[in-house]
Amino acid sequence: MEDMRYLTFALTKGRLANQTLELFERIGITCEEIKEKNTRKLIFVNEEQRLKFFLAKGPDVPTYVEYGAADIGIVGKDVILEEGRNIYEVLDLGFGRCRMCICGPMEAKELLKHHELIRVATKYPHIAKDYFYNKKHQTVEIIKLNGSIELAPIVGLSEVICDIVETGSTLKENGLFVLEEVCPLSARMVINQVSMKMENERITRLISELRAAICGAEGKDGSK
Ligand code: PRP
Repeated sequence: MEDMRYLTFALTKGRLANQTLELFERIGITCEEIKEKNTRKLIFVNEEQRLKFFLAKGPDVPTYVEYGAADIGIVGKDVILEEGRNIYEVLDLGFGRCRMCICGPMEAKELLKHHELIRVATKYPHIAKDYFYNKKHQTVEIIKLNGSIELAPIVGLSEVICDIVETGSTLKENGLFVLEEVCPLSARMVINQVSMKMENERITRLISELRAAICGAEGKDGSK
């Protein structure tokens, strides 16, 4: 056990990390240190299981994994698509479910239908570009924003937005609608390409244990 090398996990800070740790606990992977509130520690170790964990901002998780600073990452599908890193996506963890959508006021539906040259505000310029240029073959102007994307069509910055919709309440409270759906999203497990070869046995076992835990939970509450 002692000479076994550490497997390092990069977790997306916030709700995704908490849900990941809950899922890991169900298969016997624990990390007590990481649960301590108000800690300024950046890296957490489970010596016994030879595991390390750290928390990172979502868009940085695929970067750590591509470069091998983490063997395994847990991150939203939105970030995977946007970052376009050379990593393996191996498992849908089933939580953090939401949708990437084109949203705006109802009048904007016609502009989308007639392939007008419109402005699209988004935190996800690559996803928006791929959707409009490669899937819809519509030329648009993409404007990158960093948050509160719903503001853009309200204040006249853009006709539509490309953004995440979870409950739909942000749209509703601002008089906006889902006009088109780009793709469904959820938390995914990603793996460094070299780690997948070098640590194949451990990683494959981890994936199958997680898959069984996820399927078990989905079967139990009847949801998917
Ligand atoms: C996300 C997303 C939407 C909202 C959707 O924003 O960009 O604004 O959540 O959730 P809902 O459908 O349940 O209302 P987030 O809260 O992450 O903050 P941001 O505006 O800074 O991106």
